Amino acid sequence: MPDLKVNFAGIESPNPLWLASAPPTNCGYQVMRAFDAGWGGVVWKTLAVPVINVSSRYGAVNYRDTRMAGFNNIELVSDRPVSDNLREIEQVKKYFPKHAIIASMMFGPREEWHQAVIDAQNAGADGLELNFGCPHGMNERGMGSAVGQNPKALATITSWVMEKAKVPVIVKLTPNITDITEAAMAAQEGGADAISLINTIQSLVGIDLDTFAPLPIVDGMGTNGGYCGPAVKPIALNMVKNCAQHKDFKLPISGIGGVENWRDAVEFMLVGARTVQVCTAVMHYGFGIIREILSGLEQFMRDRGFASVDDFIGKALPNITTWENLNLNYRIIAQIERDRCIGCQLCYTACEDGAHQAIGLADDPDDRVPFIKDENCVGCNLCALVCPVEGCITMKRTDEGTNKETWKQRMAAGTIPETFDDSRAGGLAHHVPDPAEALGKPKQS
Ligand SMILES: Cc1cc2nc3c(=O)[nH]c(=O)nc-3n(C[C@H](O)[C@H](O)[C@H](O)COP(=O)(O)O)c2cc1C
Ligand code: SF4
Ligand code: SF4
Repeated sequence: MPDLKVNFAGIESPNPLWLASAPPTNCGYQVMRAFDAGWGGVVWKTLAVPVINVSSRYGAVNYRDTRMAGFNNIELVSDRPVSDNLREIEQVKKYFPKHAIIASMMFGPREEWHQAVIDAQNAGADGLELNFGCPHGMNERGMGSAVGQNPKALATITSWVMEKAKVPVIVKLTPNITDITEAAMAAQEGGADAISLINTIQSLVGIDLDTFAPLPIVDGMGTNGGYCGPAVKPIALNMVKNCAQHKDFKLPISGIGGVENWRDAVEFMLVGARTVQVCTAVMHYGFGIIREILSGLEQFMRDRGFASVDDFIGKALPNITTWENLNLNYRIIAQIERDRCIGCQLCYTACEDGAHQAIGLADDPDDRVPFIKDENCVGCNLCALVCPVEGCITMKRTDEGTNKETWKQRMAAGTIPETFDDSRAGGLAHHVPDPAEALGKPKQS
C-alpha cells in the first residue's frame, strides 16, 4: 500500500491534497466536513481585517458543454472577524490533530502582521500562508497582488512575518507578473519556508450584450476579477515548473490551479509540487471529489512501484528543457486508421485551412475517409487533436532516431539560417501549393 503521507516544509499531512484558501475553507463546519471526506490539509480562508463583499461575485466561462471551464471571482478575503476564525481553527484542530491547518493571512502594517501571526499560532495553526496574490479589490488597497508584483515589498513583509513565526511560513504568489521566479526568489530571500502558486489571474470574464456591463454585474457595473479553474491549469503548471527548475530556488512548492482529478494532481507533483491545493473543483463538485483523487493517486503509485510521494515528485523536470535543446531531426507524420474513421473530415479542414495542406479527399464522394499526403505532412499534430475519435489519427516516427541535432548545436556549428532569404530556412523543405490553386485556377508559372 503506497504511503501518501507528506512532510511539507515541516508541516505533516496525511496526504498531499489540501483545500486552497477560498470559500470551501470559510468556516470550521466546512473544514470538519472536508477532513472527514479525506482532505489532508486546508488553507483557511484568508484572515484579514474583515471586508465587505458585494453580490454578485462570480462569473464563468461555460465552454460548449462544460460549465465553469474557467471561473472568475471578485470576492475579497474573509468577511468574518478574525477571532471567530481563530476560535474555529482551535476547535477543528482538536478533532483532527493530525491534519494540516494553514492560516492564510493578509494585513497591512507590520504590527498587524505580528499580532495575526501570534494569534494564529496560539490557535494551533500548523503553518501560515501569506496571501500576496488577490488581483482584485485588495490590490487597490496596496495588499494582495500589489505586494506579489513587487519583489522588494514581498521580501520585506515576509521578513516581518518571520520575526514572529514559530511555524512554517508559505508565501502564496500571484501569477500576474512577468517572471514568477523573481517573486519566488524574493520569498526565499525574505526567509519563507515554502511557496504556493498560483493565486488567480486578473481577468474580465465577459460582457453582457444587453446592458454592456462586465460579468459578474454589481448593480449595472463590474470590475476585473481573478480567473481560476480548469482553464488556468497549463499556466499554473508552467509557473510551478519554472520555480522548481530555478537553479537557486530551494524551497518546497505547493501547486495550485485548475486541479480537478488525480491526473491533474499527479502532474503538479511531477513538475515539483510537494502538496497540491484545490478550490474551483470543490466549489463545483463538493468535497467528495477527494475520494477519486486519492484512489487514483494510490493506483498510479501502485502501478509504477512508488512507495511514497517522494519517489515521483519532480520526476518530469529532467524532461522539460528549453526549445534550443529539442531534436530538430525528430520527424513524425500523421496516419489515419481507416477502420476507426467516421468520415467527419474535420482533419481535412483543419490541415487544409489551418496547417499544411497535407490531407487529401478521395475522388469517390462515397468514400469519406481522408488520406495523408506523407510528403507534405510536417507532423504538427493538429489533425490528431481535432479528430473526435480516440486513436483514429496517430503520429508515426519516420526518422532513424540516430541523428540528433539541436538548435544549440547548429548555432555552435554555424549552420542556422542567418539572412532573410537563407537557403537553410526550415520551411523551404515543406510543400506549399501555388496561390492560384486556391481558386481552382491553373498554376502560374
Ligand atoms: C471565490 C474565490 C475566493 C478566493 N479567495 C481566496 C482567498 O481568500 N485567499 C487566497 O489566498 N486565495 C483565494 N482564492 C484563490 C484560490 O485559493 C486558488 O489560488 C485559485 O482559485 C486557483 O485554484 P483553482 O483553480 O483550484 O480554483 C479564491 C478563489 C476563488 C474562486
Ligand atoms: S477527423 Fe478523424 S474521424 Fe474525422 S475524418 Fe479525420 S480521421 Fe476520420
Ligand atoms: S500532422 Fe499537421 S501537417 Fe500533418 S496531416 Fe496532420 S494537420 Fe496536416
